[in-house]
Amino acid sequence: MKRLENIPNPINMDKKEVLDLLLKEEYGYLPSSPYAVEASEENRDEGFFGGKAILSKMKLHFKAEWGNSEFTFYYVRPKRIKEPVPAFIHINFRDLIPDKYQPTEEIIDAGYAIFTIYYNDVTTDNGDFTNGIAGVLYPDGTRKPDQCGKIGLWAWSASAVMDYVQTLPEIRKDRVSVIGHSRLGKTALLAGATDERFFCAISNDSGNSGAALSRITTGEKIRDITRSFPYWFCENYRKYIDKENELPFDQNYLIAANVPHKVYVASAVGDGWACPDAEYLSCVAASEYYVKNGLKGFEHPDRLPEIGDVFHNGDIAYHMRDFGHALNRTDWNHYIDYLNSCK
Ligand code: GCU
Repeated sequence: MKRLENIPNPINMDKKEVLDLLLKEEYGYLPSSPYAVEASEENRDEGFFGGKAILSKMKLHFKAEWGNSEFTFYYVRPKRIKEPVPAFIHINFRDLIPDKYQPTEEIIDAGYAIFTIYYNDVTTDNGDFTNGIAGVLYPDGTRKPDQCGKIGLWAWSASAVMDYVQTLPEIRKDRVSVIGHSRLGKTALLAGATDERFFCAISNDSGNSGAALSRITTGEKIRDITRSFPYWFCENYRKYIDKENELPFDQNYLIAANVPHKVYVASAVGDGWACPDAEYLSCVAASEYYVKNGLKGFEHPDRLPEIGDVFHNGDIAYHMRDFGHALNRTDWNHYIDYLNSCK
């Protein structure tokens, strides 16, 4: 498509190089993986949704080379599990189960388990690097220009929960997808890029520095995002304020770095700040990389997205729904349909 003419293409790079570029220049390098994780149950509700589900409030304790710490997460699973069930790891905005962004009963009814991380429990959504796991990693609250910001730490936490999920016999380990909305959609894409164990990384309305191509977005620019949320990224990213055309990559690299697993990008028509066209064209621009790596690309018509579009035939999937910026039931229904349709 014409609008992709000036978008860099990672086609001749291996995945490690693609990821390295994103980490060095945008998100910062994540801390090393924990060498041990353990979870303790803080409390349990066996009667959740009238008893068809179990809700546990859990604590994940981890040991890593850079320190030991813990954070809370929730685990909801169907009560009667005959064979292992697929699951989501949802990084969410609120400490609530269910939540307006997490229709938990519907998710359980669809036969999925769900692990929820309330992102502020991992480390707060502000420039304070002294709390949560940030405080352990950066003992004096400062970081080097290529060390990760908050998005990197939230993505890291999804992988730490994934370590624990791998130990659960009731979960289909090969069917665990990571999902987030908006800033946490950016986080889900980064978690997918840095952790090959996920089945699918799901980006809901992730916008700038998520799925949306920075060069062509008509919504948020790097200047806007680094002014309001400098701490989400590494300090190197500031070099590209008003210099989108000098970026040695674009956000199609973040989608490409999700090889070898699936990725799902969703837009909402009323979400101009995230720029649906730029999110969709990013999938188009990453498609060739998926195909080169032996996967299916992005199957789409030769036009921009329209309300009601649902493209589920590739390993890059997409939908555009009506209304505005949110992770709602329509989105969840599409995600579940797609995951269920995968062999
Ligand atoms: C702001 C920010 C976006 C972000 C959004 C959100 O609007 O500019 O980049 O995606 O918050 O997380 O809700």
